[in-house]
Amino acid sequence: MAKKSISQYVCTNCGAISPTWSGRCYQCSEWNTLTEQVEVNTSSVSTAGTALKPESVKTLVARRTHQRIASGINELDVVLGGGFVAGSVNLIAGQPGIGKSTLLLQLADKVSAKHAVLYVSGEESAHQIGLRAKRLGAGKPKLQLATSSNADDIATTIAGGQYDLVIVDSIQAVTTTSVSSATGTISQISGSAQLLSAAAKQTSTALMLVGHVTKEGEIAGPKVLEHVVDVVLQLEGERYGGLRVLRGVKNRYGSTNETGIFEMEDKGLNPVANPSAALLAERQVSDGSVVLATMEGSRPLLVEVQALVNRTSFGYPKRAASGIDLNRLNLLIAMLERRTKLSLSDQDVYVNIVGGIKISEPAADLAICMAIASASRGMKLKKDAVVYGEVGLSGEVRHVPFADKRLAEAKKLGFVGAIGPNLKNFKKPGFHPVRDIRSALNQFLEKD
Ligand code: TYD
Ligand code: MG
Repeated sequence: MAKKSISQYVCTNCGAISPTWSGRCYQCSEWNTLTEQVEVNTSSVSTAGTALKPESVKTLVARRTHQRIASGINELDVVLGGGFVAGSVNLIAGQPGIGKSTLLLQLADKVSAKHAVLYVSGEESAHQIGLRAKRLGAGKPKLQLATSSNADDIATTIAGGQYDLVIVDSIQAVTTTSVSSATGTISQISGSAQLLSAAAKQTSTALMLVGHVTKEGEIAGPKVLEHVVDVVLQLEGERYGGLRVLRGVKNRYGSTNETGIFEMEDKGLNPVANPSAALLAERQVSDGSVVLATMEGSRPLLVEVQALVNRTSFGYPKRAASGIDLNRLNLLIAMLERRTKLSLSDQDVYVNIVGGIKISEPAADLAICMAIASASRGMKLKKDAVVYGEVGLSGEVRHVPFADKRLAEAKKLGFVGAIGPNLKNFKKPGFHPVRDIRSALNQFLEKD
């Protein structure tokens, strides 16, 4: 006899299972979160579906060469892994005013040299976009523009299959009638994104969505938006001046190690050929200034780390960080207090990464520590050297990847030395290995 299916009730908030329904979850105390779940009747499984037909990966490898549309902007192509894949859904996220619309209009213009491109704006009027296009020198005949905030209309247009690339600026501004909630709400954003991506997949149109980010830097809207799309790119940097970094956050067709570096000029966002040189151009060698050899994805980058240490004038010492995580700074200050002779408990400490670059790799630790020590003691770094390495809580300097690339970049920009972790068999001219933070400070800081 077939087993009867049984239902149980699962809390959508915490996942707790209960045999009976109640208005409030017994575990997390949320109201109205229990939903019925029918347990699968296992005796009927064998007859239900049809068997899958798997293919050998070898034949797939031979067959599937994704057709790619080169964006024409080299830095962007590198981040995408060689251009847009036909039928892919891409998302570019960034703060308002960072340059998303500018970059996409430049891109649309370049791509439209060979392909049919549609730029749909739900935020700006045709007149505004016309002015921007004039400024950027865009205006090829195959570049079409439409202003609409109706996701259903846009999806129908995409499903018409006339375009190779469609840009929707922005996903927060469009609304579909199939979802009843207001524009910009979570269900609207994901509903519209799903609708547009279904149309794009159906006609093998490459789709580029623009997404705004919240103050905390998250993509506004649900995390599910990241799951709906194939590629997520993030455009970061300071809104006024400085460099913009385009980073691949997710890429179903390539690596996420690549970054592109741009500068906003009067004729749009332009790739920076030598970002390290641009970042160090105005450097003044003084105390508290250390050059860090960091990695932006797979490319090395030299940036200046600046620290300022002042006596606290009133009460609790202040710590501020720009371009690095404040928690990391606090941790390093605590470590310096304990492992070296520096006394920072009555000092305000400020750390800044020049050029609006944000650094999250631990390899910045040693440079940050040396900059703080240098500022606190009023001493400069002895050699004309770059610094990299992670610092542990015991004050030990730890190994970080890509030492070769960091040193090669330093050499290219005329630095004679490098201070980094002591690695077996790593001997290069001008390389000074250090084991711990104390010896690094004693050896390489000097009074002028
Ligand atoms: P925008 O691309 O509109 O940013 P987003 O779409 O991310 O909100 O433009 C950002 C800023 O760039 C805007 O304040 C004006 C400036 N800008 C330039 O400096 N040069 C230019 O050529 C253009 C088009 C804009
Ligand atoms: Mg915009």
